[in-house]
Amino acid sequence: MSITGFDLSFRHLCSPCIPPRFDFSSQSRRKIEYGCSFTAIRPVFCSMSSSSTAVSDSDENHVSTSYSRRLMTFMITFLLPLPKLMQHSGANANATDDLALIQGEIRKVLSKSKAAGVLRLVFHDAGTYELDDASGGMNGSISFELDRPENKGLKKSLKILVEAKTIVDEKQPVSMADMIAVAGAEAVSLCGGPTIPVRLGRLDSMVPDPEGKLPEETLDAFGLKQSFQRKGFSTQELVALSGAHTLGSKGFGNPVVFDNAYYKVLLEKPWLSSAGMTSMVGLPSDRALVEDDECLRWISKYADDQDLFFEDFMNAYIKLVNSGAKWRRD
Ligand code: HEM
Repeated sequence: MSITGFDLSFRHLCSPCIPPRFDFSSQSRRKIEYGCSFTAIRPVFCSMSSSSTAVSDSDENHVSTSYSRRLMTFMITFLLPLPKLMQHSGANANATDDLALIQGEIRKVLSKSKAAGVLRLVFHDAGTYELDDASGGMNGSISFELDRPENKGLKKSLKILVEAKTIVDEKQPVSMADMIAVAGAEAVSLCGGPTIPVRLGRLDSMVPDPEGKLPEETLDAFGLKQSFQRKGFSTQELVALSGAHTLGSKGFGNPVVFDNAYYKVLLEKPWLSSAGMTSMVGLPSDRALVEDDECLRWISKYADDQDLFFEDFMNAYIKLVNSGAKWRRD
């Protein structure tokens, strides 16, 4: 079983390292559940010494060698890796502290009215990623790209994150890419969407990403699917991520509530009506999705089941903020 530095609790530390041949009583196992108590492994040693008294003198040397070997094996498999595993546990604790620090500072500068801009910032930083040449991605390069036409209006969203980053940096340096990734997740949860776990450790790029990599709003469904495919996203993920447009002023329900109104409104096709503002609802790219059978199937599912949308959005968001990321080595 492989053990990573993530989600490593003391309980996880102990149980996988115990050699499987040691059969603990259920009581011992329960002790392990509560913490890595060495009383939990005592029965092993007890049973070893009591069985050694039952053998004849002539067998003693063989038995003690055999037990020494077993003890050695036990120490190598269980005790020796402990310091290393505990280091991992420490790294995990640090990552949790860093995340709490970043979230705390972001919450001070973020409000519901700023959430849409911050979430859009995530897509405009990460959405430049292209699989074939591994260019672009979630690397904070949006800081160099704010004058591009597609990034119009994003300066103010980045500005509040720079403010928060300055405070975080005084305590623990953080990349702009991590700040944006965490801020987008905070924006979603602040507006009532799912809680999204974000891994830390992205490195920032020191140069802008190649231009023209974000999908244009005039694309039809085929073009949108192709664009997302080049970034490693399926049609289902395209539809789930597009649900981010439920936030903001494009007419998909309450602009500061993250819910599945986007899909419900898409199914109604209000832009076909000539009545007042309804003809203004949605971007051409949103309207295009509902004209495609494959996209329509996902739109209907998400309109019917908000929990499914939240789950799929969360997974696609995690993939988005890890797209093309280069990771710090701890
Ligand atoms: C499918 C391709 C996409 C296209 C063509 C697209 C394009 C656009 C455009 C043109 C706007 C309006 C900007 C403005 O009001 O000036 C917008 C808004 C927005 N986009 Fe997208 N977008 C796409 C996907 C995404 C994704 C994947 C996300 C995030 C996961 C996202 C998040 C947002 C948000 C939250 C807004 C509202 C911003 C606000 O009202 O301040 N978009 N998008």
